[in-house]
Amino acid sequence: MEMTPLAVRSLAGLLEQRTGQQLAAGRRWRLETTLGPILKRLDIDSLDHLAGLVSTGANPDLTNEVVEALLNHETSFYRDLAVFRGLAQDALPRLAAARERERRLRIWSAGCSTGQEAYSLAMLLDAQRAQWQGWDVEILGTDISPVAIAQARGGLYSQFEAQRGLPITELIANFDSDREAWRLKPGLRDRVRFATHNLFDPPPAGRFDLVLCRNVLLYFVPERRTQVFERLAEAIAPDGFLMLGAGETVLHLTDRSEPDPAIKGLYRTRQSA
Ligand SMILES: C[S@@+](CC[C@H](N)C(=O)[O-])C[C@H]1O[C@@H](n2cnc3c(N)ncnc32)[C@H](O)[C@@H]1O
Repeated sequence: MEMTPLAVRSLAGLLEQRTGQQLAAGRRWRLETTLGPILKRLDIDSLDHLAGLVSTGANPDLTNEVVEALLNHETSFYRDLAVFRGLAQDALPRLAAARERERRLRIWSAGCSTGQEAYSLAMLLDAQRAQWQGWDVEILGTDISPVAIAQARGGLYSQFEAQRGLPITELIANFDSDREAWRLKPGLRDRVRFATHNLFDPPPAGRFDLVLCRNVLLYFVPERRTQVFERLAEAIAPDGFLMLGAGETVLHLTDRSEPDPAIKGLYRTRQSA
């Protein structure tokens, strides 16, 4: 199949312009597989042809479909389990103490993909239900991808997705079997609100006590990571937390946040900032 460097550059450029994501090398050489279904449906036989169609801008639906296909939605329940333990045993108790008077907790999972991260938080808080009884707890999951958000809202996961990260006891306690798949029980599903949102747009209204932005900024160029960190800092309460993915850091990218000494992967807003 024909795939000139120009076509690759043009498709990668489209993704970066829309989402901030740079097309990872591993995905670059898989472009043919990733975009194959679109080529087949349009009955065209080269990525060059597709890149040409997209570059005219005449078909916004096609452009959206190409961007969607190039996004990486890799996720799992309780991804990097240690950090969820840290939240349960340390960060959430600290927030519970700090918010004891207003009894309100706001959590934002930014770049939540198909919802596993946000639902992991809902399950974690449910396991601590005695602590949060009578509290107004809000969990918001957002992603740039309408397709990912639609799946998140439905709370329906294949056997493969459900098994990734979820102990069998939690799967059985919190999901209903739905033919070959698993659907989160309505009581838990209702605790999370999902919306499409681009991290380069202004953040959702109000301050959050905990913002998770994990494995999203990994493929952004440093300047764009800095832009997002500045926006996220505005969205986090002064004594709130930012949680990044394993291997991600704010170091050399922003001076608005600093690592929390107690939990790896967690950051606090710098008080002097
Ligand atoms: C690799 S997934 C990570 C999901 C989850 N946070 C985790 O760590 O398991 C990255 C997600 O970020 C989303 N994303 C990429 N660029 C974005 C942007 N500019 N604004 C919002 N979401 C974005 C993608 O659609 C994708 O679902």
